[in-house]
Amino acid sequence: MNPQAIGKPLTRIDGRAKVTGAARYAAEFNQPNQAYAVIVSSTIGLGRITGIDPAAEHLPGVLAIISHLNAPRLPYNPHKGGIDPSYGERLHVLQDDQVRFYGQPVALVVADTLVRAERAAAALRITYDAQHPIVGPRDKQAKPIAPEADGRLEADNVRGDPEAALASAAVAVDITSDIARQNHHPMEPHATIAAWDGDRLTLWSKSQFVANEQEEIAAVFGMAPENVQVICPFVGGAFGTSLRTWPHVTLAALAARQVGRPVKLALTRRQMSFTTGHRPRTLQRMALGATRDGRLTSIIHEGTGETSRYEQFIESLTSGTDFMYSCPNVRTRYRLVPLDTGTPTYMRGPGEASGMYALETALDELAYKLGIDPIELRRRNEPRIDESTNRPFSSRSLMACYDIGAERFGWAKRTPEPQSMRDGRLLIGMGTATATYPAMQFPASARARLLADGTAEIESAASDMGPGTYTSMTQVAADTLGIPVGRVRFSLGNSDFPPAPPHGGSQTMAAVGSAIRAACLAVQDLLVERAAANPRSPAHNMGKEALEWVDGHLRRKGGAASGQSYAEIVGAAGGVPVEATVSVARDPEIDNKYSMHAFGAVFVEVSVDPDVGIARVRRALGAYGAGRIVNPRLARSQCLGGMIGGIGMALMEHTSLDARDGRPVNAHMAEYLLPVNLDIPDLDVLFVDEVDPHVNPLGVKGLGEVSLVGMAPAIANAVFHATGRRIHELPIRIEHLLGV
Ligand code: MOS
Repeated sequence: MNPQAIGKPLTRIDGRAKVTGAARYAAEFNQPNQAYAVIVSSTIGLGRITGIDPAAEHLPGVLAIISHLNAPRLPYNPHKGGIDPSYGERLHVLQDDQVRFYGQPVALVVADTLVRAERAAAALRITYDAQHPIVGPRDKQAKPIAPEADGRLEADNVRGDPEAALASAAVAVDITSDIARQNHHPMEPHATIAAWDGDRLTLWSKSQFVANEQEEIAAVFGMAPENVQVICPFVGGAFGTSLRTWPHVTLAALAARQVGRPVKLALTRRQMSFTTGHRPRTLQRMALGATRDGRLTSIIHEGTGETSRYEQFIESLTSGTDFMYSCPNVRTRYRLVPLDTGTPTYMRGPGEASGMYALETALDELAYKLGIDPIELRRRNEPRIDESTNRPFSSRSLMACYDIGAERFGWAKRTPEPQSMRDGRLLIGMGTATATYPAMQFPASARARLLADGTAEIESAASDMGPGTYTSMTQVAADTLGIPVGRVRFSLGNSDFPPAPPHGGSQTMAAVGSAIRAACLAVQDLLVERAAANPRSPAHNMGKEALEWVDGHLRRKGGAASGQSYAEIVGAAGGVPVEATVSVARDPEIDNKYSMHAFGAVFVEVSVDPDVGIARVRRALGAYGAGRIVNPRLARSQCLGGMIGGIGMALMEHTSLDARDGRPVNAHMAEYLLPVNLDIPDLDVLFVDEVDPHVNPLGVKGLGEVSLVGMAPAIANAVFHATGRRIHELPIRIEHLLGV
């Protein structure tokens, strides 16, 4: 029997290519006669360009200096790619003299070498008429607005009478929180190499969504999408920053057309702080009311996120609150504050990561007020259905996550009193929090091709930013076809392949996996037809119902013979490969019938040094109920990454803006703090054996986001347990903890 691949902890199929350098990332697809472009970023936060001194044009090697003064007017045809904000219009680069935010591209220098392009960019003199930008949501001139209705998220949800219930609650907490702006800062910077061949444009470009990049660039330049090809086989981390197609891709293509040579454009680390989206800073209020025995009677969640003046970026900040706990009176309200900044974007666990921080730290505070164990408090408020929609959960293993997590973590050893646990000088705290993220599935397509040698080629314009898409999809194809993984070759990251949805929102396994499964089943059907049409085949003239596939062989149903292999069927018809391309969308009935989410319980132990106010995570454990785990090794690895992202969010990450001009003052890795090896303690990941028969045929929910959500509140709750100090600002910093 062919061994099952799904569920096996296979190592990465692309691991060897990655560690040997054979894997090629966008900036490594160097082209003959390639020139180099460098973006000149605005040094004011708001205003207009009054002049550009052309002297730099005469510096050695300079091929072009492109600005609004000489750039061609680009069509910028309407295009919204699903990941683009529904309301507003994307930034048009080099089309006018307006500066909307600090760091906006205002000119592009193209030269024959990178050094010469950089030198000319540094020498370029630009004058401005500067105004004072509003860059902080707490600025007196910053005005919150209700987001335009766009059908994806509702700004306000209410059931019952939460105000009255809060006023009459036996016990209540009412907290506000402020979570810093963060940038994604993956290892690989954004980069694009653009090459024109007549009317055809090829882009080797870092992207989590090549199908969208193709359409977006086609719209910007007014071209037919089939004349644009986007290639991106490897992504060196992204976390959401490569979902949208940002202006540098347009600039690379523009430069290449202008100088008539292929052009490489890579962003600097600094530029990645202001031109490629960020997790919006959020201000939140969370009020909870409860009975003395810990039943929630009121939840009020008011969340505000920052956005740009030209687009309304919305995320699911308050969505988790709507359904997480059983409560008759709930109101959630979402607002935006437009600022003079670039548009924010999705960043790992978008919405839930920030919103669940507010809910889970408030719940922890309520647990102390009530004198009830935080896990027990959650148990008492565990809903039987999604009370915001009155739909059953397709599956919900939250309490199972708490059970196995608490057991393995040793929660019982925790003494409930704040400041009651010590290790020598250090204050020790343990905290817990709930994680959740929706189990999404956008339409996706894939192609399966069986070759005469019995191997299979699978193609989909999906991405692999690190979770192991190459490997997990190969496992799905191998099992569906009943052949060893070594006989499957899966290719992704090319817009010529059948389109796939954004590699984001934790849906790649569900969406692309379902498409690959369907494509493999479809190609099997075609092979049945081939065999049935062949007079020399044992399946000649037989219908599909009378036949079955066993271990990659077609045989009479229940028959004893081993049947015909793929190679035999394809070979018998002259060896012409057989292929099927299939598109799969989730049955809308399922969406209407069930509330579908992944859940998790996170446990953290911190130490706080009372003399210097430094909090460190000593160990952490995440227990997740996320449906079927296709590859436990890679799933664990993905969760470790998410948990580390949560440590960054809680204790380090903060893009700090100068209030005078919106300049990020820590736009470099020396001062944008991220967890490094020494910050990463003992991490543990557990999966609940969750069977979800509804969510999709593979029964998978996704892990990328849920593994970050919950970490930051668990850490903050542990810091409170260690110190007795409730910090409502992220990241938690030394100044918050001095004098504990
Ligand atoms: Mo992730 S924000 O869904 O790329």
